[in-house]
Amino acid sequence: MIIKFLRQQVVFLITGVFLVSLLFACQGEPIVESLAPIATPVAQETFATTQFLAVAYPDRELSASPAQLPKLPYADNALEKAIDAETMKLHHDGHHAAYVNKLNEALEKHPELKNRSVEAMLRGLNSVPEDIRETVRNNGGGHLNHTIFWQLMSPNGGGQPTGEIAQQINQTFGSFDAFKKQFNEAGENRFGSGWVWLVRNAQNQLQIVTTPNQDNPIKDGLYPIMGNDVWEHAYYLRYRNRRAEYLNNWWNVVNWPEINRRVQTVSPQT
Ligand SMILES: [Fe+2]
Repeated sequence: MIIKFLRQQVVFLITGVFLVSLLFACQGEPIVESLAPIATPVAQETFATTQFLAVAYPDRELSASPAQLPKLPYADNALEKAIDAETMKLHHDGHHAAYVNKLNEALEKHPELKNRSVEAMLRGLNSVPEDIRETVRNNGGGHLNHTIFWQLMSPNGGGQPTGEIAQQINQTFGSFDAFKKQFNEAGENRFGSGWVWLVRNAQNQLQIVTTPNQDNPIKDGLYPIMGNDVWEHAYYLRYRNRRAEYLNNWWNVVNWPEINRRVQTVSPQT
């Protein structure tokens, strides 16, 4: 009788320990919690975020394994409101193709870099071997800049900005006309070859900047929302030395829906 009682107590004890252990196990940290965002000051958070946002395309960075010339999203003569067909063809099939080819030639010497995106190489140029660093800077930059540029234009483009970008332009610059004036002046005053950009900076502000040659703003921790090419190869056949006229006409083909997508990608509230 006593033995039977003791056996029952041992069974109760073991069952109790098992149930308590199960209870604690179920209260453990959920796995998804490790993916939750960590609260940081706004500026720091945005700076960190923009470092890792895809710049070339909505869903991916620009591959360098190998780099490939993207197709134009429209015909050579589709942007005649601002850019003639011959310029478009030379610009895409000649200049952009050359950047792609020269980038691939350079990376042949350092195949260990081929798994890094063009954006990653440009953000960390100091980690690119010195013998190809300038080539990657110029031709990787040229490939990235032009890949973005083709998407920023459309045969149905032009007109007033809409949606989020319209609101942010008005908040930052006062009006679209004031923004356009500043953007055009910055592009006109960029000495020699380069680009004029609207970027989001580390303080979450829109800002107009210019870059020399084929530098992209991500090199300086800025996210490019829109940009115009002010190299002579972008306008000289039609406009000759009249860069200001080219800058002014370019607004007739600006692809506001694509620019809205880019501004929403990098806006802190999204
Ligand atoms: Fe160009």
